[in-house]
Amino acid sequence: MPDTGLILAIESSCDETAAAVVQRGERTLSSVVASQIATHARYGGVVPELASREHLRAVVPVVRAALSQANIALADLDAIAVTSGPGLAGALLVGITYAKALAFAQDIPLIGVNHLEGHIHAALLNEIEAGADRGPDAALDAEAPALALVVSGGHTHLYHARPNAGGWHYSLMGRTVDDAAGEAFDKVAKLLGLPYPGGPWIDALALYGNPHAVPFAFSQIKTKLHLVGKTPRTKAARSAPIANLDPHFLFSFSGIKTAVLRYTELNHLRPQTHEGHPNFHACHPERSAAEPNGQRFPGKPPKTKAEALALCPQQTLDLIASFQHAVVGDLMKKTFAAAESLGATRILVTGGVAANRELRARFTAEAARRALRIVFPSLALSTDNAAMIAAAAWPRFQAGEFAPLTLCANPALSLGVEAPR
Ligand code: KG4
Ligand code: ZN
Repeated sequence: MPDTGLILAIESSCDETAAAVVQRGERTLSSVVASQIATHARYGGVVPELASREHLRAVVPVVRAALSQANIALADLDAIAVTSGPGLAGALLVGITYAKALAFAQDIPLIGVNHLEGHIHAALLNEIEAGADRGPDAALDAEAPALALVVSGGHTHLYHARPNAGGWHYSLMGRTVDDAAGEAFDKVAKLLGLPYPGGPWIDALALYGNPHAVPFAFSQIKTKLHLVGKTPRTKAARSAPIANLDPHFLFSFSGIKTAVLRYTELNHLRPQTHEGHPNFHACHPERSAAEPNGQRFPGKPPKTKAEALALCPQQTLDLIASFQHAVVGDLMKKTFAAAESLGATRILVTGGVAANRELRARFTAEAARRALRIVFPSLALSTDNAAMIAAAAWPRFQAGEFAPLTLCANPALSLGVEAPR
């Protein structure tokens, strides 16, 4: 086995085309991300067909940029890793097909990586790069169970993660029964007229509102509602049964989204006209409801935080701050409860929503209060990237767990086994 440990990873599961070269799962030589936000923003969300087309356009230049920034040639690589799922089928296929071609042409192994496992390794990679002079295998220790919260636009999952015979073992402890937390951020932002993706906008505007102005509440989820005979509402909810999971570790974010909508209706949060854009009305849901293409406003959405602040009345800022406070509070409550039930000494919080400032601050404070270690990815590695895929591929490379060239996209790929209650 070559000992350079150079893995090129490709990630194309959603709306970011990414490639990275990581050495031995711990040294990032390059990480290039081409975002498609500009393409999807006008639709208020990711359009799968457009995503595939944009990946096709970007994948070759992004891989070339990753190799050139790492200052290595294709011939130097020891393996090619690629996200095989979960994600959008057409989007995944672009990365997988290109990765297969590269692996075949270079005659080096192909490694299929679960996107969720990638997010978990983003946190571990950051920890290792931040100075812990230990290899990834030592990063989590079987004697000290770690709890991982993957919280992104597509997922809100709690896992018990531990190293296992050269690889990793994951047990699912909890997850959302409907929308992911990031999806709730995006949908609430959209109904308030903020651009896509909404998470960073909510994060920025929440600083100007009163987080206690609107007392949102999360009710306890009853798993019985989701037992046989009832069809879960969303695809994500259908993809894995929840009947065996502890209801205390289940999330639901579709209700708060509706509560925000009702609040804006009941409180007549009328639009404020933006000077220079007389047709643009921010923070007003009704106006955009009739837009056939999903674009919320006939005019231009705000481009800067200052523009958004000028458009949002204080009551809307209070609503935004209260929404974020409630979502972060719910994520915290269930994550720390799951950590306690495991006896975990370390919590990994990862995925796009882990970039949220309030989330980082409150999780950090609570972990300190409980004398637990808390690990986040760097901001750049919180959202989708390929360095995390290369990092997750390293233990598989060492274990010789390679994918055949018949590797297929698996849009509903799940991670780990369900933890017994
Ligand atoms: O991990 P990611 O890039 O893609 C998925 O795997 O889904 O996460 C994207 C999600 C989006 O929903 C986005 O709004 C959210 O992460 N996000 C944030 C922040 N930055 C990104 N949510 C809250 N606060 C942020 N600062
Ligand atoms: Zn992701």
